[in-house]
Amino acid sequence: MIKDYNKYLEYKNGKLFLEDVSLEELAKEFGTPLYVYSASHIRDKAKAYKEAFKDADFHYALKANGNLSIIKLLKEEGFGADIVSGGELRKAIKAGIDPSKIVYAGVGKTVEELKMAIEAGIKMFNVESSMELDILNDMAKNLGKKVNIAIRVNPDVDPKTHPYISTGMKKSKFGVDIKTAYKEYQYAKSLEYLNIVGIHCHIGSQLLDVSPYIEASEKVRELYDKLIKDDFEIKYIDIGGGLGIKYKPEEQEPHPSDLKEAVYPAFKDIKAKLCLEPGRSMIGNAGILITQVQFLKDKGHKHFVIVDAGMNDLIRPSIYGAYHHIIPTNKKHEESYIKTDIVGPICETGDFLAQDREIPVVERGDYLAVLSAGAYGFSMSSNYNIRPRAAEVLVEKGKYKLIRSRETYDYIDYDEAIL
Ligand code: LLP
Repeated sequence: MIKDYNKYLEYKNGKLFLEDVSLEELAKEFGTPLYVYSASHIRDKAKAYKEAFKDADFHYALKANGNLSIIKLLKEEGFGADIVSGGELRKAIKAGIDPSKIVYAGVGKTVEELKMAIEAGIKMFNVESSMELDILNDMAKNLGKKVNIAIRVNPDVDPKTHPYISTGMKKSKFGVDIKTAYKEYQYAKSLEYLNIVGIHCHIGSQLLDVSPYIEASEKVRELYDKLIKDDFEIKYIDIGGGLGIKYKPEEQEPHPSDLKEAVYPAFKDIKAKLCLEPGRSMIGNAGILITQVQFLKDKGHKHFVIVDAGMNDLIRPSIYGAYHHIIPTNKKHEESYIKTDIVGPICETGDFLAQDREIPVVERGDYLAVLSAGAYGFSMSSNYNIRPRAAEVLVEKGKYKLIRSRETYDYIDYDEAIL
């Protein structure tokens, strides 16, 4: 059922609509590849989080989708931002998010980026190494400002997701293990320009089963208790993001209340405020990538549908082998199916959106809708093969708005500017 992906997605007289806007009409007006997002879906997700976690602070992880209109929408819903770069800091501030609602994690923050964030006066730096503590303290001193920090702990739990997006295991580059973290907190106390305000932990992304959060929360709680005993004032426990979404038809999407049930036993009786950094679960199934069939190619043993969206537009299938459900925007051929690879125009064998997939027969010129493309879709897109990046449209209750125009060739000819 496509409604299980997004309740605003439906066929009406055989044509696919999102929030009562025809996806085919949008494709004709704005061209393809085209990202389309449902504002109501995003708002519903924001409400679901707010209802599940009554007294928490929410920081939308901009890396999932950094479109200004999306960030603004989430700001309206009361969300702050979780950022990982100077670019994201700028975007969050441009969207009107108060710096006091911005948290900043990342293993490789540069001097320039740290300076931007110190000057902006963000809520909390989620520090990932001992060296970062020193640099941050020195820089804060030079800028004459105290900064708030949490240490990102790596609780060494297996989030049982794709290895590339598992972040809370011993072998990953993120955070510091709990034992070391305790020592780092003692050390950070001696650094005059750092205010220790929190503990941060993010174990991974696309978790369909919330049980790894239970173990991580218990470990964080243990550290919290030790720190409180040592007279640290821990105001925030930031448990990161990671809640998964439905990609495959047989998958069931966990609800923010499932996450709450996993983490609350460890945190229900503490003074500190919970912070969350959801990305994918806010926007993943709000978004659809529309692509147009260019050619059909039957090689006898293998059939290909060649579309105009490539791995530069949506790289998830290529790098994670990710499954994205793909449906036609027009149900005209529902009776006959083909087994095919749906591939893009990029000069790489890894450039596919689906492999050995059964879909209704399509013709040149038809449009296909790639579901669950709102998170890590456009934000991971590139200009590979010198292709302008796609346009983005936001729909809400029968209305639509272009929220990023298709890149022009002038835009991507940046190297010419310095000739
Ligand atoms: N907080 C931190 C510190 C993170 O590293 C991430 C994601 C999030 C929050 C948001 O996690 P989410 O709620 O979106 O799972 N490109 C990959 C996903 C990479 C996630 C990186 N960190 C993908 O397409 O699946």
